[in-house]
Amino acid sequence: MTVHIGAKKEDIADTVLMPGDPYRARWAAETYLDNAEQVNSVRGMLGFTGTWRGHRLTIQGSGMGMASMAIYANELIRDYGVKQLIRVGSCGGMQKHVKLRDIILAMTASSVNTPSRETFRELNFAPTANYQLLRKAETACDKLGIVPLVGGIYSSDVFYSERSDLKEQLVRHGVLAVEMETAELYTLAARYGRKALAILTVSDHLDTSDELTSEERENSLGSMFEIALNAAIA
Ligand code: HPA
Repeated sequence: MTVHIGAKKEDIADTVLMPGDPYRARWAAETYLDNAEQVNSVRGMLGFTGTWRGHRLTIQGSGMGMASMAIYANELIRDYGVKQLIRVGSCGGMQKHVKLRDIILAMTASSVNTPSRETFRELNFAPTANYQLLRKAETACDKLGIVPLVGGIYSSDVFYSERSDLKEQLVRHGVLAVEMETAELYTLAARYGRKALAILTVSDHLDTSDELTSEERENSLGSMFEIALNAAIA
């Protein structure tokens, strides 16, 4: 047990899939895992462990934002010895060619600030996805008939940004989409020698008011989990 995770050490698998929303963790566990057992409910941040095609996996909510992700990723890595962490989440499209429902495999994540800022001070560390995991996710996409976008994203501390100038610079530098967790996840994985990847669906676009319907969200969630599950056991 840790401060934020009530599971016994042996109840958490080596690979953890991390949706932001704990209800999505429950949905995915019910949909994909055999013999799923709830292993965490502290603060309602649900976690489940079960098997998929005979491989033991945990699905644990991360919460929203890098501060929350950092708490769960730190405890999963340092206290439970987790080896692979795969974020499964949504993002806001930034480039014109990025469309609703597109799947993005995040190679890297820019940021203004992360919880690791206090560790790095003047250093601009470049958080990157684990290359093998990224390759495996791309192969899983091929198998599932999904053409992903692979590139850089932006991990923001704010959902309601006031910085249109910042958005302009990110767009200018080819950043595909914005979300709020990946830069710190990749940083922590690097710090402890673990593998991490973020698989994202474009749920809205910064240039329009278009958003996925709840049915589309569920379908896209299914695609992301299928990519993540295939990549995790490859
Ligand atoms: N901004 C930040 N995070 C997000 C967004 C967004 O537009 N969409 C999904 N996650």
